[in-house]
Amino acid sequence: MSPCASGRLPPLPAPPARPRRPHGACATAPLPLLHWPAPPPHLPRPFRAAPLSRRLCGGAAMLRPPLSLPPRRAAATAAGPGRRLLLSTPIFYANGPPHIGHLYSALLADALHRYRGLCGAGPGRLSTGTDEHGLKIQQAAAAAGTSPPELCERVSGLFRRALARAAVSFTDFTRTSAPAHQRAVRHFWGALRDGGALYKGAYEGWYCTAEETFLPPGQLAERRDARGQPCKVSLESGHQVHWTKEENYMFRLSAFRDPLWKWLQNNPRAIAPDPFYQQVLRWLEEDLPDLSVSRERSRLHWGIPVPGDSTQTVYVWVDALVNYLSVLGYPETHGEWWPAAHHVVGKDILKFHAVYWPALLMAAGLPPPERIFVHSHWTVRGQKMSKSLGNVIDPFACFGQYTVDGFRYFLLRQGVPERDCDYYDEKVVKLVNSELADALGGLLNRSTARSINPSNTYPCFSESCFPKILDSGETEGMGRVSAKDYEFVASVASLPLQVAGYFEGFQIYKALECIAVCVRQTNSFFQRHRPWKLNRKDPAEQLWLDTIIHVTLECLRVYGTLLQPVIPHTADKLLSRLAVEPEERGLSSLTFLPRYNGQPCPFEGRQLGPDTGVLFHRLEKPGQHQTETEKL
Ligand code: MSP
Repeated sequence: MSPCASGRLPPLPAPPARPRRPHGACATAPLPLLHWPAPPPHLPRPFRAAPLSRRLCGGAAMLRPPLSLPPRRAAATAAGPGRRLLLSTPIFYANGPPHIGHLYSALLADALHRYRGLCGAGPGRLSTGTDEHGLKIQQAAAAAGTSPPELCERVSGLFRRALARAAVSFTDFTRTSAPAHQRAVRHFWGALRDGGALYKGAYEGWYCTAEETFLPPGQLAERRDARGQPCKVSLESGHQVHWTKEENYMFRLSAFRDPLWKWLQNNPRAIAPDPFYQQVLRWLEEDLPDLSVSRERSRLHWGIPVPGDSTQTVYVWVDALVNYLSVLGYPETHGEWWPAAHHVVGKDILKFHAVYWPALLMAAGLPPPERIFVHSHWTVRGQKMSKSLGNVIDPFACFGQYTVDGFRYFLLRQGVPERDCDYYDEKVVKLVNSELADALGGLLNRSTARSINPSNTYPCFSESCFPKILDSGETEGMGRVSAKDYEFVASVASLPLQVAGYFEGFQIYKALECIAVCVRQTNSFFQRHRPWKLNRKDPAEQLWLDTIIHVTLECLRVYGTLLQPVIPHTADKLLSRLAVEPEERGLSSLTFLPRYNGQPCPFEGRQLGPDTGVLFHRLEKPGQHQTETEKL
């Protein structure tokens, strides 16, 4: 963003020393299993705006009122279990159908939301929706020969259906064209204006409609357009930019460099993973020019008029960001939730969320959100996904091809937030077949087979077969159990805590990797002891056979419980087969192998649930499937 507002003062002096933290610290620190992480110590103190002399001025600046700080509402959110939390996805542009990049943002937020629910944390909401205003939508509607409201209605419905089909458990779906949202934006604008954070100034720069943002020269490249004429494009998206010169309302972003810096210094967990936190600090070290927050209505009519000035339209990013407040009933009831908000966003929109949004909030008298979780992008066979390359992956087709759970598992298991990940069909089939169909499904199938467990019960654990040891050196003379078995049960016992740490650090893929490793170990345990070879007529062998199955089912119960946020349907099927009741599926009460520790096991002797067939069917190789598509 490089505004050329008339007559700027030199940039602010360099900010204080950067609040670095050891790479990866906090991100992976395991947490106690029983509690959803308490919020970081928040920024409740009022921010200090830069002195007026350091702020932008010029012809327009003469008229500016001083920047005063509106009183901040006390947040009603309390720390600890029982506290409220808003998780959010970005709201999606309503100019085209959903693709797997959108889906990935939504699935990450959904997994966090579901995980938190399983922890028995307090009331939670998961918000999503569609971003319906702006030049991009206005132009897309014109190109499609329709009106913006008609286009938005259609595309918004498509997103809602795609998210519901993907089992994204959203509680709120905001459309920025909705009257309640528009009212919230007008109020928010009033708070900015009344606090003196806005002024009118002449503005010019290169505008990228696809990104809905002005770009500085360093983010531009020279290209030729379709007619061979030289043109400038955005380095990031490759879309053409256009020189725009108009009178706009400006937001005093430059005044918020110090407050933003302090916010990050006091909240090193505010942006995760760490490389993105460091990236935001680097942005704050650079010049932070004021931000144009309106467009002339004659050019952009599809948007919310600036309150009190019908010649201007509110900048679409200000409009869109306010969805995180309007969903909470701003300006009336948001204080019951805000700032207990965690935003999941792609790296391309990090600056809007980690710089502009916190600054806008501070200027409106509100604290920044608690946390921002950032992810990278999906490429397709090594290429950026784009309409012009024709390689955009349709989520509906993927659900038809890989099932909803299969595709959710793939994206969350393979997606690494810190770096871009590549998608291709063969990779999905290979991963899902090996980890869900073969390893997990095979284990359930083998350990519940009639031939091995004819009574179809959760069999008993025998302490004499699997005696408790205090250290692993003690395994001598322990009969059938080996040191390997002790190591294996120890790693399953520590799994819930590891998974908790990874969810806390936004490393869901690592949580899934740990689970996959344990599933493999359980298969090895089962294979090693060959329960099918044991003679059920011999009471000693029967005890051992029951113990092997008991341990295996206990492992499966832990995996099923931990996998619920990622593959909800498959986990439900697994837990139902193990006769785990809905109220026994939470994480706060998750125990593993209590009989080993001399505690009673409520499942022992219980009749297993009905056998409803294969847990997860192997996927066919690409090209052999029926696809399910839903187009615009
Ligand atoms: N409307 C804005 C967000 C406003 S939030 C106040 C927007 N919309 S978007 O539809 O373009 O993008 C929504 C999300 O999809 C973003 O998190 C973005 O990073 C993500 N993805 C879009 N393409 C992507 C990939 N190729 N891969 C992964 N996610 C990407 O931005």
